[in-house]
Amino acid sequence: MGMQRVAVVGAGTMGTGIAQVAAQAGFDVLLIGRDPEKMKKRAEGIRSTLMRLVEKGRLSPKDAEAALSRLRTGAGLDAAKDADIVIESVAEDVKVKVEVLRTLDLLVRPEAILASNTSSLSISELAASTKKPERVVGMHFFNPAAVMKLVEVVRGTDTNDATVAATKEFAARLGKTPIVVRDVKGFVVNRLLFLYMNEAMISLQEGISTAEEIDTGLKLGANHPMGPFELADLVGLDVALSILESLHDEHGGRFRPTPLLRDLVRAGHLGRKTGRGFYTYDKK
Ligand code: 3HC
Repeated sequence: MGMQRVAVVGAGTMGTGIAQVAAQAGFDVLLIGRDPEKMKKRAEGIRSTLMRLVEKGRLSPKDAEAALSRLRTGAGLDAAKDADIVIESVAEDVKVKVEVLRTLDLLVRPEAILASNTSSLSISELAASTKKPERVVGMHFFNPAAVMKLVEVVRGTDTNDATVAATKEFAARLGKTPIVVRDVKGFVVNRLLFLYMNEAMISLQEGISTAEEIDTGLKLGANHPMGPFELADLVGLDVALSILESLHDEHGGRFRPTPLLRDLVRAGHLGRKTGRGFYTYDKK
């Protein structure tokens, strides 16, 4: 099937990474945000990421230029109207996502796929706000999106087989490995991963060991590339809290977020992006 034009709506960390991957994979990509000034910065950010890969010898200068030539940025959802697939990666807020999907549903061609990169909202609920829920699907990417190989393809109650099949094929063309999951909170990976991160926070609160030592334990004792606290800081403590809250709503007790996590979020210590979380970082 001739999927070629990809629109990514939402130019945060995930949206920008997804746009980069799609451009590198040979798609014509439009990255859409709200603020035209910010969009210029995003395009510059992708250029410097690709240039770093060139310097490291991971990417040829020719391929980097080709990817950049396939990538455009824009402001306003109208620009997405010719896309074969739109991936929304806007704020993890049901009202915001519903508004975006409802607008896209009226704009795009009837055969276009509407994918949501939500990590904790219900695809069926988002799809219900559109006139064609059968073409709405979840595409859950992992952070950092350019590097992580997995995409969870989430089948909502009304998502049809053709949409699931085309989304799997698209994920494979991005160089990712798709797994198909049912629309339950946390899907497969976050359900397990955030339970583990929460348990690490409980261990820290109980004074079993320090964050550094718990991280060292999991890296050297279980071969994880990052320990749970490094990972929480990478993901963002606000994101971790909201995922745990939604898992707690659905699955109950064992997912209850720790007071420690709530305290850090309330204090505005959200991890790498604010320069402080479980660790401190040099602010960019
Ligand atoms: N584009 C393309 N390639 C990139 C890149 C980019 N933007 N950034 C880095 N890379 C490449 C590097 O060139 C490098 O390639 P190489 O191994 O061939 O040299 C490779 O990616 C690894 O990068 P680095 O050498 O910079 O870094 P590390 O080896 O230290 O790995 C890491 C960093 C990949 C982040 C690793 O620590 C890791 O896998 N951590 C765990 C991440 C994880 O678990 N994420 C999931 C979070 S949960 C989630 O996202 C769900 C959501 O709903 C919250």
